Amino acid sequence: MKILVINGPNLNMLGIREPEIYGNQTYNDLVALISREAEKIGVETEFVQSNHEGALVDAIQSAYNRCDGIIINPAAYTHTSVALLDAVKSVGVPTVEVHISDPDTREEFRKISYIRKACIATVKGKGFAGYIEALHILCDR
Ligand code: DQA
Repeated sequence: MKILVINGPNLNMLGIREPEIYGNQTYNDLVALISREAEKIGVETEFVQSNHEGALVDAIQSAYNRCDGIIINPAAYTHTSVALLDAVKSVGVPTVEVHISDPDTREEFRKISYIRKACIATVKGKGFAGYIEALHILCDR
């Protein structure tokens, strides 16, 4: 089983950006955490982080006929991008939306998620542990 883990804009700044919301751990710490869990349960993982919407569309498309699941934190593009929603619909790969914080309890503009309509589940407000939950949701399926 192969899972593609995609992180959107500014998530490369984890550990630096707004630590009171996103914590002190870095993007590399996140990758290490997910990799360790994936290895434990015998799942292959691939990681993409980009600050560019088109690169995220390309990453989603790359999963077509190649990956068994996608874990995606689209970050700010959650709230703006029909292109990411369409990409997930296009490839038909089971996808779980993850957010480190709970955007539904923050500013009004974070309450809309376009991609959610194409996802089998959403995990939010659980910190880095949310990615591990997403991994198990995809594996248990
Ligand atoms: C985020 C929440 C988004 O609203 C925000 O734009 C992010 C990160 C999260 O993981 O909590 O960049 O997706």
